[in-house]
Amino acid sequence: MSNTLAVQEAPSRDETLERMRAKLTGIVPDVELQLKADLAYRINVLKRELNAVILGHNYMEPALFHSVPDYVGDSLELSRISAETEADIIVFCGVQFMAETAKILNPEKTVLIPSAKAGCSLAAGVTADDVRALKRLYPGVPVVSYVNTYADVKAESDYCCTSGNAGNVVRHILGKGHDYVIFLPDQYLAHNTAKEVGIPFVTANREEALPLPDRAVIGWSARCEVHELFTTNDVTTVRQQFPDVAIVAHPEVSPEVLELCDAAGSTKQMIEYVRKTEADRYLLLTECSMGDNIAAENPEKEMLRLCSHRCPHMGQITLEDTLAALEKIQYKVELSDDLIRDARLPIDRMLEIR
Ligand code: 13P
Ligand code: SF4
Repeated sequence: MSNTLAVQEAPSRDETLERMRAKLTGIVPDVELQLKADLAYRINVLKRELNAVILGHNYMEPALFHSVPDYVGDSLELSRISAETEADIIVFCGVQFMAETAKILNPEKTVLIPSAKAGCSLAAGVTADDVRALKRLYPGVPVVSYVNTYADVKAESDYCCTSGNAGNVVRHILGKGHDYVIFLPDQYLAHNTAKEVGIPFVTANREEALPLPDRAVIGWSARCEVHELFTTNDVTTVRQQFPDVAIVAHPEVSPEVLELCDAAGSTKQMIEYVRKTEADRYLLLTECSMGDNIAAENPEKEMLRLCSHRCPHMGQITLEDTLAALEKIQYKVELSDDLIRDARLPIDRMLEIR
């Protein structure tokens, strides 16, 4: 499947329902599909009238994911797509930091997020003032901010990264002769990335500079409230029951959990892993709506449904709110010109690194 779900003409309400049924029968009850097909139809008509594009993160709930986005993807893909769109309005069905990234890349466009409550525990876990404190403690050390940060944190950073390119970004910086990289805010992603590139990891605080080994990734203490829930016990229990299972995790899980998995990657990389694996059954360590979306794409493989953790922030985005976003042109992402200028540099540097 390509990441585009776009069609030239808005499908009729009946066509919309049939397309949703083709993907989601057995995953979403039919009565719910009928209600949601009505909303999806109205959204698809309105987005064409307004020359709007809808970007849908892989964590969107199945009925939304399979009906209204013109493009679906992980944070990196959607950043790249938002940098290239010719639409007048971008509706971001994802969380606030993602919509901010789209606005930073498209200052002249209207960027809407359907809910004003779609946050992220990682983005809330570090402030611009924290970054300034770390830069004072470790002068000259480049700062990489995960895309799951707000614009003011990005504006204090040298590079941005996503879960899809964190290793490449850190290797790029080390290749420029640096021995240390400050990597914010996800403690687990930073630690997993340090392991990937083969250098030690330390967790910083803003009070004192820690003694450092010869080379290190200097991390922070924020965690994803969804991915930190997975335990080593989850993985070992599943392996005992299903020795042939392929287990793939998002790198926001702990290093101890990741160690026990067969593969790790961004949400897009996880989708590709399931598509390609020859295993008959698989387990995903990530948020559960994406599990439903992957199950819909891979009916011939069995997805084990043993852990069900929904991201409460992604769950704020509904078809009802997406329709209201287009009808009322809400909620607009507003950032000052200075913030957009300063936050754009680390994003552009990231997009240049393949
Ligand atoms: P991706 O960049 O892999 O899509 O992940 C975003 C995210 O919020 C994961 O929890
Ligand atoms: Fe943030 Fe975790 Fe939700 Fe992703 S799953 S948006 S990292 S809280």
